[in-house]
Amino acid sequence: MSAEVQTLFIQHFGKDSNRTLSYYQSQQSGYVAAKTVVTTMTPDQVIEEVKKSNLRGRGGAGFPTGMKWSFIPKGGDKPKYLVCNADESEPGTFKDRDLIRYTPHGLIEGMIIGAYAIGCKHAYIYIRGEYTREARLLNEAIQEAKSAGFLGEKIFGTDFSLNITVHRGAGAYICGEETGLLNSLEGKRGEPRVKPPFPAISGAFGCPTAVNNVESLASIPHIIRLGGEAYSKLGAVEKSGGTRIISLSGQVKRPGLYEIQAGSKTLRQIIYDLGGGMKKEKKLKAVIPGGSSAPVLTADEIDVIYDIEPLMKIGTMMGSAAIMVVSESVDLPKLLWRITKFYAHESCGQCTPCREGCHWMESILHRICHGQGREDDLDTLTSLAGNIGGKTLCALGDAAAGPVASFIKKFRPEFEAKITPVVRGQKRYA
Ligand SMILES: Cc1cc2nc3c(=O)[nH]c(=O)nc-3n(C[C@H](O)[C@H](O)[C@H](O)COP(=O)(O)O)c2cc1C
Repeated sequence: MSAEVQTLFIQHFGKDSNRTLSYYQSQQSGYVAAKTVVTTMTPDQVIEEVKKSNLRGRGGAGFPTGMKWSFIPKGGDKPKYLVCNADESEPGTFKDRDLIRYTPHGLIEGMIIGAYAIGCKHAYIYIRGEYTREARLLNEAIQEAKSAGFLGEKIFGTDFSLNITVHRGAGAYICGEETGLLNSLEGKRGEPRVKPPFPAISGAFGCPTAVNNVESLASIPHIIRLGGEAYSKLGAVEKSGGTRIISLSGQVKRPGLYEIQAGSKTLRQIIYDLGGGMKKEKKLKAVIPGGSSAPVLTADEIDVIYDIEPLMKIGTMMGSAAIMVVSESVDLPKLLWRITKFYAHESCGQCTPCREGCHWMESILHRICHGQGREDDLDTLTSLAGNIGGKTLCALGDAAAGPVASFIKKFRPEFEAKITPVVRGQKRYA
């Protein structure tokens, strides 16, 4: 690999004029990949190329995109749908917003290619309600693409047609979970569905559907342009191809978006070399490495390669590649309380362990943080987390349980320091 870091997206971020069709065509070979695909390749060839690229879903679970597309049944009389997940609600994650702001045509081109590969004629972009401006920008870009003949009927003079509808969510984290999203898209409550059947068999409106994250889809034109194998080789680890956009936040000197070749850096290098190290030269205390739902790491655990498998090996996850850096000045019980409050608020309430458990975890953390903690609270919290993780229809339960279990395991003394032992007969609270 060359010493110079190869990036695909980030050099186009930051300037409003970069989002136009003319910029996309002149500076990013815009729509050449879609034309190549639609006029010269079969859908199976496209899927093979994406499989070769080792592109793994950028929405959180890291599922291989090519394999996901191959699960969509061929033929049949039902329409097929491609749905772009632009809900981006995991705290700490803000990469999809800038992808939409500065390369909306990259996403649209990726969707044209994806739709062609799975046989879809109508695709959706489900965008989080708060992204008002981005929804408008997407609609403008879709109109531009339509006027240029890249969307609509008989694209590139072939029999392939595609329309894209932008559907705005109403501000619910659970609608980022793919089946909650599909229910919401259908006008129902955004409650995750029982799986199986998986969306590839019964998704939007009961039809075969592929749900893909913004970054996953925006990577597709690059895969076609470079070739699957070359894209794969951008990754420095065997199983992950391409580049990853990292949302870096917290107490670092230079927070923001960074793009690295997948698996090419350790967490330490990202925090200190890219992020400029700790703000005000404070000591690093903890790192949340993959959005707020990722189990926390201590300052001693950051020499790990920042990619899916290495992080899994040490008991955490890469998720949506959102790194939150926590300094010595942060009160960890309070931080965990705030995180848990989010998940308790966002639980859709369908599954009892999540609905009840998240509420109880939040209440107990609240009392610990307000001087009313009880001696057995930490064990109760750990037990509650253990009774939520893996016991719910969707992964929101795991998202809430992982932080609680890991914060208490790794930083127990900080929690204990907030809990004063009860002295019999003495009034507990002042
Ligand atoms: C509670 C919850 C919230 C999620 N939120 C998002 C989200 O905002 N954006 C996203 O792309 N994926 C989100 N996901 C993951 C999606 O369910 C799904 O795996 C993803 O959209 C698939 O796309 P990918 O294969 O391209 O990663 C969420 C999952 C859960 C359990």
